[in-house]
Amino acid sequence: MKDSAPQTVYLADYAAPGWLVDSVHLTFRLDPEATRVVSRIAFRPNPEGTQDRFYLDGENLKLIGATIDGQPVTPEITATGLTCPVPDGPFVWEADVEIAPAANTALDGLYMSGGMYCTQCEAEGFRKITYYPDRPDVMGVFSVRIEGDMPVLLSNGNPVASGDGWAEWHDPWPKPAYLFALVAGDLVAHSDLFTTTEGRDVALNIWVRPGDLDKCAFGMTALKASMVWDEQVYGRAYDLDLFNIVAVDDFNMGAMENKGLNIFNSSCVLAKSDTSTDADFERIEAIIAHEYFHNWTGNRITCRDWFQLCLKEGLTVFRDQTFTGDLRGHAVKRIDDALTLRARQFREDAGPLAHPVRPASFVEINNFYTATVYEKGAELVGMLKRLVGDDGYRAALTLYFDRHDGQAATIEDWLQCFTDATGRDLTQFALWYAQAGTPQITVTDDFVDGTYHLTLAQMTPPTPGQPDKQPLHIPVAVGLLAPDGSEVVPTRMLELTQAQQTYTFAGLAARPIPSVLRDFSAPVILNHTQSAADRGVLLAHDSDPFNRWEAGRILARDVLLAAVRDGKAPDPAYLDGLRATLTDDQLHPAFRARILALPSEQDVADALVRAGETPDPDRIHSARRQVRQAIATALDAQMDAVFATMQVPGPYDPRAEDAGRRTLGNTVLSYLTLLDAGHRAAAQYEGADNMTQQIAALGCLLDIGAGQQELAAFRAQWQGDRLVMDKWFGLQIARSDPAETVTRAESLTRDPAFDWKNPNRFRSVFGALAGHMAGFHRQDGAGYDLLADWLIKLDPLNPQTTARMVTAFDAMARYDATRQELMRAALTRIARTPNLSRDTTEMVARILG
Ligand code: ARG
Ligand code: ZN
Repeated sequence: MKDSAPQTVYLADYAAPGWLVDSVHLTFRLDPEATRVVSRIAFRPNPEGTQDRFYLDGENLKLIGATIDGQPVTPEITATGLTCPVPDGPFVWEADVEIAPAANTALDGLYMSGGMYCTQCEAEGFRKITYYPDRPDVMGVFSVRIEGDMPVLLSNGNPVASGDGWAEWHDPWPKPAYLFALVAGDLVAHSDLFTTTEGRDVALNIWVRPGDLDKCAFGMTALKASMVWDEQVYGRAYDLDLFNIVAVDDFNMGAMENKGLNIFNSSCVLAKSDTSTDADFERIEAIIAHEYFHNWTGNRITCRDWFQLCLKEGLTVFRDQTFTGDLRGHAVKRIDDALTLRARQFREDAGPLAHPVRPASFVEINNFYTATVYEKGAELVGMLKRLVGDDGYRAALTLYFDRHDGQAATIEDWLQCFTDATGRDLTQFALWYAQAGTPQITVTDDFVDGTYHLTLAQMTPPTPGQPDKQPLHIPVAVGLLAPDGSEVVPTRMLELTQAQQTYTFAGLAARPIPSVLRDFSAPVILNHTQSAADRGVLLAHDSDPFNRWEAGRILARDVLLAAVRDGKAPDPAYLDGLRATLTDDQLHPAFRARILALPSEQDVADALVRAGETPDPDRIHSARRQVRQAIATALDAQMDAVFATMQVPGPYDPRAEDAGRRTLGNTVLSYLTLLDAGHRAAAQYEGADNMTQQIAALGCLLDIGAGQQELAAFRAQWQGDRLVMDKWFGLQIARSDPAETVTRAESLTRDPAFDWKNPNRFRSVFGALAGHMAGFHRQDGAGYDLLADWLIKLDPLNPQTTARMVTAFDAMARYDATRQELMRAALTRIARTPNLSRDTTEMVARILG
């Protein structure tokens, strides 16, 4: 066996598979140390194939024996696969391999979690189960037999037969190997039934460990809501008689859309009011919808190759965002999505890890399950919809489903459907998929004799490997307000295609106040100098809720920047605007809470970097605290009144109405705590009958350096609940004083409950550390060292989670020379670790540049 050096894969090198698969029969004889997998695969030559050598992927497999058409063969085996001579024409390949699920700490392929067997095969995990052409453009019909000493034995599709210690499954829908799944364990189901519009009765199950059965009802409600929504909004019904969801404690990602057998990180499906927050409920609802929606956008139509990942992920995120908006309100959802995009994707785009929505090359595909592929990918779908309109979008999607059902498609196929359905030329739009970086649009205007000219100039900064950028096709939604705040020109979708374009609005009585990029119509950064007075008018009157919020956001950002730069107290006019919003009962509480929440320390750092300054994390931290203190002092009386009216009586209801009230109540509580020595928060903690109220109160107390007693009580109360204990670990780091963040994290790694091999627990500590800007970037580099130590320790066990967490260092270049030096040293130490995984090697190399 020879180890091959990590290779870069290029989109341009795509070659159609030489052989296609008709059917796959798999037999699993489960054993923790020595599971046997017998495969029988019917291959036939692909007439369009461009590969002439028969090749099967395979990693960490012990081949016991192989035959072709019943004749024993001796393949040539490498560390990544095998090859052997094959007949012309169709043939049957059989192989018997041995694998060791209990030793699989990477959680990729077949592995064990808390005594149960489960799988994760996307992107390239199936090759760790048996030899196979592990690529999404090879689709086969799978039959599976599982033999094992477990009460529940599950695989994809429909059950065929079962007996004591065995079960057989058949999935009639051809699928790529990455959608294969197997689960075996001591599980119980929360079950329900759903009848599709086509009249199909579908059995629904959420499988969990016996103790978690009381945490399934909400997920089931969300699943049924998703099924109804996809029928009503996209005309897509479910296509099997059974839909299974399984909760797993050890999982690298959120969840996985395996055909008919979705596997979830338990944190993304289990919910109950006393252990889950409103935010958890909303996230769980969205992820259940996301995985369910993949059944059409991902499974029925899959990706030709992994460069096309955004084809399924961007579209499916767009679909789950719309679903959440329909259920919980579009304005607040759009604000939350824009916040996430800016915090994760814009930051990725601004650093060494910037890559196009459809990357052109990769070393390890798992490193490209990114905010750019997912969230920016979703924005591209949203822009397409804006450009072709609602009817055009519907026609394009109908064509896409008709034309590509059962296929492995590309972005070109996807765009062609829009062109064919609507006649729009999307040649320039296609650049969005290939060009990395966040476009910046500079807005200037003038007003002469009743005519208003609005000029938009676009520029995309260079990104690694892409020094020169071309102008993009950008939908910019614009409306105009009169000085009194009334709308004089309703929303118009301007299409910016040139480097610079001017748009004319005639017949205006007075110089208007422009409201640009309404509803965040494109994932761009706006450079728009507007007076605080104009922003005040937009905050008070804009008919577009997103831009109303955005105006307040920019005012808040400017207040924070003035505090960081000159120690300035907030402008009284800003405080008046905030007070007016806080007390405006016409506004939804959730929306008011979004306006009241200040930009994060990271957001302030982003703004400074964009202005060419070097952010000082300690200074940003204390300036932001000062501003919060000033807001609390100025709005004390109103906040006190709002806090009282936002108390939600009666039994807990996770839906948007009550959740919005709790969000606003807890937002004002975080301010009030700065003035009342924690009295209200302590009382709320004491009386809380749900996790939202309990943990919000605890967070407020920790914020002011109190809450140690509550923290201990919280632990005593919840030590039996893994998911709640993840919160316990994370919260005390996230809410620590920057001088103590690293020591807090370090001492928590010595806590007996710190199970570092569990990705959720590892992330609860180190995600919180990396997310605490001032704490992580402590000047002596102790934060960097602690994280590096643990990444080096985790990498040999779990490369995927390690590589993902290395991104904590990706903003290196924006800091001062001392910090840069220290970060570089930490990264270099990781890079020099012997036998570092391919995943982590690629990430460190990209960050170091
Ligand atoms: N397709 C999954 C989703 O719903 C994510 C799987 C990611 N897995 C991985 N190994 N990168 O988004
Ligand atoms: Zn997905």
